[in-house]
Amino acid sequence: LQDQNLCTRLLNWYNASHRDLPWRKTGNPYAIWVSEVMLQQTQVKTVIPYYERFLQRFPSVNELAAADLEDVLMVWSGLGYYSRARRLWEGANYILQHLNGQMPGDYDGLLRIPGIGDYTAGAIASIAFGQRIPAIDGNVKRVLSRLLAWNEPVETVRSLRRFKERLLAWQSVENPGDFNQALMELGAMVCTAAKSACGCCPLADVCRGFLGGEALLYPLKKPK
Ligand code: ADE
Repeated sequence: LQDQNLCTRLLNWYNASHRDLPWRKTGNPYAIWVSEVMLQQTQVKTVIPYYERFLQRFPSVNELAAADLEDVLMVWSGLGYYSRARRLWEGANYILQHLNGQMPGDYDGLLRIPGIGDYTAGAIASIAFGQRIPAIDGNVKRVLSRLLAWNEPVETVRSLRRFKERLLAWQSVENPGDFNQALMELGAMVCTAAKSACGCCPLADVCRGFLGGEALLYPLKKPK
């Protein structure tokens, strides 16, 4: 399968069937940052109202930085994993103090913000800035491990490096953000942990896991 072909199919599938989610209607890097932090440990359905409330209350980096942490935590209340809210607030303060209140405009700049890691920087850079950078979360690891019939634990540095290489080769030139979100969407809707709906998958005919009859064998976990 040609790399270009895989990308086109994935994007066609995404364009035809993706969920209409609020953070997919914006190019604002701050809003996308908020959404990605919320989505890291929380399901889409739960995140939606919190995302909308949070942005109403703190519409920009500067307004978030100016707020009391207590108020930020209050708006976060019910979403769980409160350290996420504190890190977001600290990141906003870093931007206010060290970057004149301006969000960095690329991946490398984003990585310098305390609290923004590789995944979040990749997601923001691809979705908001159109950079060809992978964004590999748990869903994407699962999809890739099945697609490649990946016979190593996925949580290793080596696996991550190889996944990044593959993704860079496949990734869209026109729309890297949609490409990354399409992989996340495939993992959330089709190639899920509990079952794999291979009959609905746009990549089934090139998926080594499916073709080997063992999609659910993957991802392999680290031996204890
Ligand atoms: N999970 C993490 N990021 C996401 C996004 N942008 N859309 C849907 N689910 C996600």
